[in-house]
Amino acid sequence: MQWDTEKYTKHSQMQFKIGNLAIDKLNPKPGENILDLGCGIGNLTTKIAQLVENGKVTAIDIDDKMIASVKQLIKEKRIDNINVLRCSGTEISYKHTFDAVFSNIVIHWIRDLNLLFKKLHSALIESGRLTIASLYTDPNNPLEIEPKENQLTKISHIELNFLKDFIKDGHYKDILTLQEFQEYQPKVNKEIVYKTYTVDEIRDIIENAGFNNIDIETRQFEISFNDLELFLDYRSSNLWIYFLAYFPEDKRPAVISKLKHLIRDKWYEIPEEKKEFPVKEKWPVIFISAKK
Ligand SMILES: C[S@@+](CC[C@H](N)C(=O)[O-])C[C@H]1O[C@@H](n2cnc3c(N)ncnc32)[C@H](O)[C@@H]1O
Repeated sequence: MQWDTEKYTKHSQMQFKIGNLAIDKLNPKPGENILDLGCGIGNLTTKIAQLVENGKVTAIDIDDKMIASVKQLIKEKRIDNINVLRCSGTEISYKHTFDAVFSNIVIHWIRDLNLLFKKLHSALIESGRLTIASLYTDPNNPLEIEPKENQLTKISHIELNFLKDFIKDGHYKDILTLQEFQEYQPKVNKEIVYKTYTVDEIRDIIENAGFNNIDIETRQFEISFNDLELFLDYRSSNLWIYFLAYFPEDKRPAVISKLKHLIRDKWYEIPEEKKEFPVKEKWPVIFISAKK
């Protein structure tokens, strides 16, 4: 996985809005020691660091570019109570260290959530707390991941069809050979997924890890785009990251261009009156609070 931090900064208003609500729920207090799992570019991390004042924040992230970006932000803001580490949340080995664990829009990228929550449980002091915001599976509002040919009036259907069949339909051919693609596959980090769970599934995982007083709130957020190019750029900054991880890094800009080109062409074929516009995206978000 390799995030484009510039694009992420430009398109992460939604993550930031949700993250700020999650910080309110975390309610960091002066002197506390807090772990920020999947800190990204660090705009929430620095806010927490300021709230804990003479306390400390440990910010971890698996992505090199995100780590470089958070380090740069800390330098610019001259903050001296954040410790930054490049590692996966499933690799940590802290014991009774943190007053609280915080994480915003991260856990759907992690394959082994049972392991993750056990590690987070161990990392907390007795009576430490957990505050997590993430995407979840809302059975009343399922994600449309199986588009039907006759439903191609929605941009998300067009997009998902191209993502699904990009290799099968040979769209890679002017970017890399099939052999180059296949040779790269063993290097893909299989720990990274794009997977969401229902409320009950998440509750079970957290309970099994040993947490108590689990409180779950769900909310729908919506983001709307009047401009096709802005929408495509936004999608390449988040959802496509998972897909792009299957290509060598130097080929990813060409894959993004190709995808945009394919989606654009298909979209322009649709008669204006049938197009669903503005493009809307719903985010089913879960806020989790729990105690050790
Ligand atoms: C959508 S971004 C959210 C970043 C930040 N929390 C925010 O709200 O802006 C997801 C972040 O999770 C990180 N991530 C994904 N899997 C991870 C893992 N196993 N351990 C640590 N960080 C991970 C990614 O590298 C990325 O920076």
